[in-house]
Amino acid sequence: MNLVVIGAQWGDEGKGKVVDYLSDGADVTVRFSGGANAGHTIVRDDKVYKLHLVPSGIVTPDKTVVLGSGMVIDPEALFAELHELTNLGVLWEGRVLISDRAHVVLPAYRQLDVELDQKRAEPIGTTGRGIGVAYSRKAMRDGYRMVDILEQDVFETIDAQDREFLEQYRAPLADMVIDIQRYMELKGNKTVLLEGAQGALLDLDLGTYPYVSSGCSAAAGASLGSGIGPRAIDRVVGVFKAYSTRVGNGPFPSEFQPNRDGRLTEHIREVGNEYGVTTGRPRRCGYLDLVALRYICRSNSIDSLALTHIDVYDDLDEVKVCVAYDIEQSSIDSFPASRGALNKAQPVTKRFAGWKTSLSGVTSYKDLPVAAQDYIAFIEQYTGVPVDIVSVGADRQQTIVRRDPWTQS
Ligand code: GDP
Ligand code: IMO
Ligand code: MG
Repeated sequence: MNLVVIGAQWGDEGKGKVVDYLSDGADVTVRFSGGANAGHTIVRDDKVYKLHLVPSGIVTPDKTVVLGSGMVIDPEALFAELHELTNLGVLWEGRVLISDRAHVVLPAYRQLDVELDQKRAEPIGTTGRGIGVAYSRKAMRDGYRMVDILEQDVFETIDAQDREFLEQYRAPLADMVIDIQRYMELKGNKTVLLEGAQGALLDLDLGTYPYVSSGCSAAAGASLGSGIGPRAIDRVVGVFKAYSTRVGNGPFPSEFQPNRDGRLTEHIREVGNEYGVTTGRPRRCGYLDLVALRYICRSNSIDSLALTHIDVYDDLDEVKVCVAYDIEQSSIDSFPASRGALNKAQPVTKRFAGWKTSLSGVTSYKDLPVAAQDYIAFIEQYTGVPVDIVSVGADRQQTIVRRDPWTQS
């Protein structure tokens, strides 16, 4: 059984929490895309783990994790993160493997990433982690993969300064780098959890281009980014928040507007602690956008939705969702490619009564207030996809599973 977990919005949906939860059922967790631009948070046994490159399965004792072929890996960031994990008491040695086909992010890429974004007429607001540069070099066939830096004759072709930087990491990397396909065959892993980064709306192909990241954060990336064939993927879980957030620039049709929505952004940012894990930037906030979510469900074959952050709406008198866009004189309920159209789109919203009670201690679906259940039922009806997991807080225990994605029972 191979299960993919992706973000179904613009990132930070709570993938780290959901992957950590599901990793109990996995032999191995493979991160299939992105790099240190990601920030995945796990709250477990009163400890907070902030992961950027290491797959979120690492916190579950004895489980193996693999940084997959679709990733771009900054060795300095990776070893700093592993050091942090040691400080948090995570015994990671022997459990962290890296695909030999994953690409390397060199220090100069970070600088160039920042410079390029500053020069753009309309900056994307990248994380400055060298991600776009690494994926561009990969596409131009000028990048370096893990296997390349371990092979002496290829290593010697690398620029002297970069070689000097890489030298210190070669020996520790050599112990971790594997041929992922052979590894899977040898181990005969029965259950593989494939962890996405970013969100499908930040995917290079499906997302709000050019305001996207440069990797394959969509479900289709799980196959290429892990080396597991597309027909071997059994199920796709899409993680989404009860509202929407976005860090950085780009279209956001359902973003709260002060003149229309008062201080909703400030409220959600405060209650939901909506600040980026990687850059600390405040996240932009808006209504749940069902037009975008349905587009992502369909284009990623999402079988199962995991709804997070519903507790952040606890205090509201009413809750709205975006069900269509008004663009100039017409109303549409499909997600357009045109950034002009997305920038002009005004959300058409449907209103629900708020539940005005704390959900953070609710442990079973039937104990959720009717108003919250109505909100969830509407999401299912609109998208045509069941909400199988409901997260009512950051802690691992604050998770209601209606149907287990591993077994669907
Ligand atoms: P990821 O990038 O998708 O893994 O998400 P992030 O870790 O960047 O951001 C999600 C934030 O929300 C983290 O601080 C999580 O600890 C927290 N979180 C996850 N699920 C919930 C939830 O259901 N409710 C609340 N209030 N916080 C949550
Ligand atoms: P996780 O995995 C939210 C955004 C950046 C920027 C755009 C391009 O934690 O959900 P990049 O540095 O990737 O070239 O930046 O993508 N971005 C994210 N936003 N969550 C993320 O990851 C993101 N990774 C990149 O803010 O707008
Ligand atoms: Mg994040």
